[in-house]
Amino acid sequence: MQAALRIEDLTKHYKKGLREKIVALRGLSLEVHQGEILGLVGPNGAGKSTTIKIIMNLLFPTKGRVEIMGINARSPKAREHLGYLPENPSFYDHLTGEEFLLFTGRLLGMEGNEGREKAWELLRMVRLEDAGRMAIRKYSKGMAQRLGIAQALMGDPRIVVMDEPMSGLDPIGRAEVSQLILSLKKQEKTIFFSSHILHDVEAICDRVGILVEGRLTYLGTPSRIVSTPTWLLKIEGDYRGILREKGLTHATMVGRITQVEIQEDELWEVMDAVRGCNLPIYSLEKRRCSLEEIFAKEVGSETAG
Ligand SMILES: Nc1ncnc2c1ncn2[C@@H]1O[C@H](COP(=O)(O)OP(=O)(O)O)[C@@H](O)[C@H]1O
Ligand SMILES: [Mg+2]
Repeated sequence: MQAALRIEDLTKHYKKGLREKIVALRGLSLEVHQGEILGLVGPNGAGKSTTIKIIMNLLFPTKGRVEIMGINARSPKAREHLGYLPENPSFYDHLTGEEFLLFTGRLLGMEGNEGREKAWELLRMVRLEDAGRMAIRKYSKGMAQRLGIAQALMGDPRIVVMDEPMSGLDPIGRAEVSQLILSLKKQEKTIFFSSHILHDVEAICDRVGILVEGRLTYLGTPSRIVSTPTWLLKIEGDYRGILREKGLTHATMVGRITQVEIQEDELWEVMDAVRGCNLPIYSLEKRRCSLEEIFAKEVGSETAG
């Protein structure tokens, strides 16, 4: 099947002063399949926004190319397939949500009722039907972000590209945007979005790409990134001696709490042993790799392209 998005050997240099240059992308290649949600994660400065701006033809690459449904991203035809939520969407905030969507619709060539119907369909979808006639300046950050998503959908694009759609939102706002992205997938749209927070992408993405310093260090399912979790057992008091007898030699004290890391495959065996000793267990929690650890190591790719 035709890829929704094909990014091929993308390199981007920015000029800095007369001589220096910043290398934002170093030969990035990536395909986004039709109907999938692909999240591009990476620390600040990794090149996520640069990638997205090149896809949207707002920036020219130094080298490489992007195809959208097989069409060169430089061609205006490619834009017809794309909806776009920029990193910091700015609104004409004296307008109401409805007026803003109607304005977007007119730019897309929609006339009369067509634009109005689409605007209200989308306001309902992003749960802004009660705020549609309110000035955008009165919107919360979460409401503004949902309006931005509605705006990206006005032209009924097959592919929705979003730059940090969850940034700056509280946990409820993040969950709402996640739900919205999942509902777009149900409508068979392709979604490509960026985030600097792994947690935002791992729950909803079919595949995740990790971008570090302009290079893709991982591409595959989210579960593989954090494939073998370990468990952290905390016991109140100093029980290092007993744990050592049970073969757990690496327990440490943090304050008055004994902490020991347990591998997933030996969890039950250890817990049975510990239970026999009647230890005052304080907590048992799944320990995941921190994002820093993940960004630091080359996880390798699960699938090619
Ligand atoms: N217009 C620009 N001029 C010069 N350098 C830029 C420009 N835009 C981005 N950069 C640099 O390119 C790198 C990648 O930036 P960006 O794509 O915004 O990363 P991200 O979105 O992952 O945070 C950073 O080092 C950033 O400082
Ligand atoms: Mg960015």
